[in-house]
Amino acid sequence: MKITVVGAGYVGLVTGACLSEMGNHVVCVDVDPRKIEMLNRGEVPIHEPGLDAIIRRNAAAGRLQFTTDVAAAVAHGTIQFIGVGTPPDEDGSADLQYVLAAARNIGRHMTDYKVIVDKSTVPVGTADKVRAAIAEVLAERGVDLEFAVVSNPEFLKEGAAIDDFMKPDRIVVGSDNERATLLMRAVYAPFMRNNDRLVVMDVRSAEFTKYAANAMLATRISFMNELALLADRVGADIEWVRRGIGSDPRIGTHFLYAGTGYGGSCFPKDVKALIRTGEQNGMTLGVLTAVEEANERQKLVLVQRVVERFGEDLRERTFALWGLAFKPNTDDMREAPSRVIVAELARRGARIQAYDPVAMPEAQRVLGDVPGFSVVPSQSAALEGADALLLVTEWKEFRNPDFDAIKAALKQPVIFDGRNLYDPALMQAFGIEYRGIGRNQ
Ligand code: NAD
Ligand code: UGA
Repeated sequence: MKITVVGAGYVGLVTGACLSEMGNHVVCVDVDPRKIEMLNRGEVPIHEPGLDAIIRRNAAAGRLQFTTDVAAAVAHGTIQFIGVGTPPDEDGSADLQYVLAAARNIGRHMTDYKVIVDKSTVPVGTADKVRAAIAEVLAERGVDLEFAVVSNPEFLKEGAAIDDFMKPDRIVVGSDNERATLLMRAVYAPFMRNNDRLVVMDVRSAEFTKYAANAMLATRISFMNELALLADRVGADIEWVRRGIGSDPRIGTHFLYAGTGYGGSCFPKDVKALIRTGEQNGMTLGVLTAVEEANERQKLVLVQRVVERFGEDLRERTFALWGLAFKPNTDDMREAPSRVIVAELARRGARIQAYDPVAMPEAQRVLGDVPGFSVVPSQSAALEGADALLLVTEWKEFRNPDFDAIKAALKQPVIFDGRNLYDPALMQAFGIEYRGIGRNQ
């Protein structure tokens, strides 16, 4: 099939690459010429395991192309995926300017039947706006062309995006047009054995499903983070509690990990946007408002533990910080808890020596101006001359470090473990003072 993907970011690139892997001829179009030039040189602008190889293979086979030429891109695909950003507006609602600009471009250049697929995360009612935007442009052109707008939200996780796309739990398609539904079934058939994971529903429910999924996951995390704070006070260990409740299939084991708060480009903005949708419809979403408040509080917990241990004034202190990305296997630092932690430590006068396996260039870009903050080339370099270690992102290479070396390098030695990676009993055996999240009995 001929497919166009509008937007060559995380979602657009993964979508385009995986669809080309299944034999489709895909054109990815982006307004950012720097990104497109990189891609055409064979470089991938984001760190996503497995993505480079798929892009290289399909680009070489001529099935995957990158362009800034909007007219040619629109002409190419019968199916036009829109995967552009939907950042928060000033009031927290999703800013639809990029989605609607992409829609108008399609209206401006289309000459035959198109299925326009909203893959970006967009509030309920957006498909109607996309349809109206295209219809308006077609009317201005004085042409009458058939098209359908469907909703197909994306559920991939950064760092595991290829697996998530290739082996989806479910594919949600919101469509009220039979021909478009048939085409969407055909696009996704290679990703399922019997089309059994395709859930076709009305457009509004599909749009809502995406926010409901992210809001539910964010709620689980905030709930566990709040319980962890209480566990600290009552002398329970949240890691045992997590295992104790997760074994109940009604609860399940995933997304119950207490930590430094959720970050990334989606949970924070989607929780905000859903709260805003509630307000616009005369409802206060109390549970979700609390989820957001709990998350803001959680990002500061590690610093509070540092202050409890070292005092308010951190001017004579240096901290090693392991992990800057908002989660492992990505260089993405959008809304990363590390940003709040670094800013707060720096505000109190501390020096921070930070290391991350892949996010250091990005950290330099977003935190480079923070006084006292520096990135260093290795885990051990971060420890040199530091009072204590803060573990912020649970990269695999941090799971089993040389604890003797940590103890020897740190002045104190204390580990503030923001991801509960280490066993408190083992830390005691090594003679390392240990503060986790919700496990300080
Ligand atoms: P991104 O910022 O990485 O990429 C968006 C791209 O769109 C950019 O390269 C930008 O230059 C391009 N763009 C903007 N306007 C354009 C236009 N008119 N024409 C062509 N290109 C244009 O964003 P992302 O992280 O890929 O997210 C995209 C959408 O997908 C968002 O709505 C997000 O909520 C949703 N989503 C993201 C993820 C994720 O893990 N990142 C997962 C699921 C859903
Ligand atoms: C999330 C969802 O998991 C995807 O399904 C969704 O498609 C995506 O948002 C989106 O809409 O963009 P992502 O943000 O890539 O994916 O990463 P997650 O693995 O969900 O982690 C988000 C944040 O929650 C991270 O900061 C992570 O550290 C934190 N988290 C996750 C916890 O603190 N505890 C957990 O148990 C799980």
